[in-house]
Amino acid sequence: MLFKEKVIYQIYPKSFKDTTGNGVGDLNGIIEKLPYLAELGVEMVWLNPIFPSPQKDNGYDIKDYMAIDPLFGTMADFENLIAQAKDLGIEIMLDMVLNHVSTEHPWFQKALAGDKRYQDYFILRDEPTDWVSKFGGSAWAPFGQSGKYYLHLYDKTQADLNWRNPEVREALFEVVKFWQAKGVKGFRFDVINVIGKDEVLKDNDQFDGKPEYTDRPITHTYLKEMNQATYGNDPEIITVGEMSFTTVENCILYTQPERHELTMTFNFHHLKVDYENGQKWTDAPFDFEQLKSLFHEWGTQMSEQTGWNAWFWNNHDQPRALNRFVEVEQYREAGATMLASAIHLNRGTPYIYMGEEIGMIDPTYHSIHDYVDIESHNAYQALLAQGLTPAAAFAIIQKKSRDNARIPMQWDTSANAGFTTGTPWLASDQQAETINVAAEKHGGKIFPYYQKLIALRKNYPVIAQGTYEAFVPEHPQVYGFIRRYENQSLLVVNNFYAAETLVELPAEFVAGDVLITNTELTEVTQKLTLQPYQTVALLVEH
Ligand code: NOJ
Repeated sequence: MLFKEKVIYQIYPKSFKDTTGNGVGDLNGIIEKLPYLAELGVEMVWLNPIFPSPQKDNGYDIKDYMAIDPLFGTMADFENLIAQAKDLGIEIMLDMVLNHVSTEHPWFQKALAGDKRYQDYFILRDEPTDWVSKFGGSAWAPFGQSGKYYLHLYDKTQADLNWRNPEVREALFEVVKFWQAKGVKGFRFDVINVIGKDEVLKDNDQFDGKPEYTDRPITHTYLKEMNQATYGNDPEIITVGEMSFTTVENCILYTQPERHELTMTFNFHHLKVDYENGQKWTDAPFDFEQLKSLFHEWGTQMSEQTGWNAWFWNNHDQPRALNRFVEVEQYREAGATMLASAIHLNRGTPYIYMGEEIGMIDPTYHSIHDYVDIESHNAYQALLAQGLTPAAAFAIIQKKSRDNARIPMQWDTSANAGFTTGTPWLASDQQAETINVAAEKHGGKIFPYYQKLIALRKNYPVIAQGTYEAFVPEHPQVYGFIRRYENQSLLVVNNFYAAETLVELPAEFVAGDVLITNTELTEVTQKLTLQPYQTVALLVEH
């Protein structure tokens, strides 16, 4: 299947390239940089939401599903983007936020004005449950003066839609069809595993378990219905569901091809291995044992049961992986390329978040006022309320804020990293003096390494299609796996630490060819020494 050979690149449009000087990235900026993406070799680009929105949650609060926010350009610009990208072999994936709408959306406004038809578009109750919003506080807010409450699993300006109402589903499917007709070939469905709420809503018994509204069985029914009504009619379309608090069992069900739900799923377990007691707003080192066993569990089970994973280290909601998993001051290049190998040679579709291919890192901001993200501000207040000093609370925000990923893309050393000639909506960082596309193209190691990984996936079926087996699962420093497909076998070993280590290779691979490595390797011996953050992939053709 062709989709397995593709690598997807994520653009956060607000921060990619501004062509108007208003400090916000735009569609024409993306068009301008298409040749750069083609040079990298990616074949699909996922754009975070570009629809009209009050931007309370950076576009995840949509007020019109079938238009382009003037902040980013016009519908003509979007059509131009689709066409120009296609000419370079790149398709566009849009972000469909179908769990909730902005409270400024006409549906919510009509509901508030008393229209019963639209009130049934939302989840209104006389008594709230104990559910908490993912951005802090209760997940229920008063519905005007009605005495009722509406559900908002995210910000109170993001009202959850009532998928139990067939008219809501029909309206949302029209949205998908609208963009499909424009030539969009990919859909990323935001928090899609929370759309299926039960008829009778129950309190959560415990918050460390799965919230009551997650992965309900009816979600699978809704996805099948959406598949049938929309993208299921076009085999070229790629869909990815963002899954919150999910399980491997459910993700297998969401993605087994014969079930006709989604192409693949994002899960976040591997990016919670540096949470203390499961809490995001803490500062703890990553737990390698946990990371490794999650990779093995998901890799093996998905492989045995024909599910398909979307793999990523970075996105617009995560601090940079280089700051989390690597001693970045000393080993930025080795760490970046090792992390890349660990997912690009894996079974599943790799995603690259803008700037990852040049090794961008978290910014050094000095004040809470430098941050824009609503979640970071809520968390800062919550940490102060828990009794942390402002300095201690700020230190955690610096580590965990989503804005770490949202800083402007670094093109060169000109003002604001070449992102804008105006004032960027979120400050650019001094790291741009050394970490930028122009510098990386002149002797950097990360960009060419990504180019090579992307090309390998297209040329070696064992990477795109092979099965997955864990290798040395007990090794204290190495995450290793074996892929097999027809006459090809591939062994990948990744040293996750800044210290050298030894790994014993199975005899089968000692005579293998080095397909890719990020550090000098003169000879493959059975006892192989891996340098700090070294990755080695050995290919055998039987
Ligand atoms: C997940 C998105 O990735 C995030 O940015 C957003 O805030 C929530 N969903 C709510 O839509």
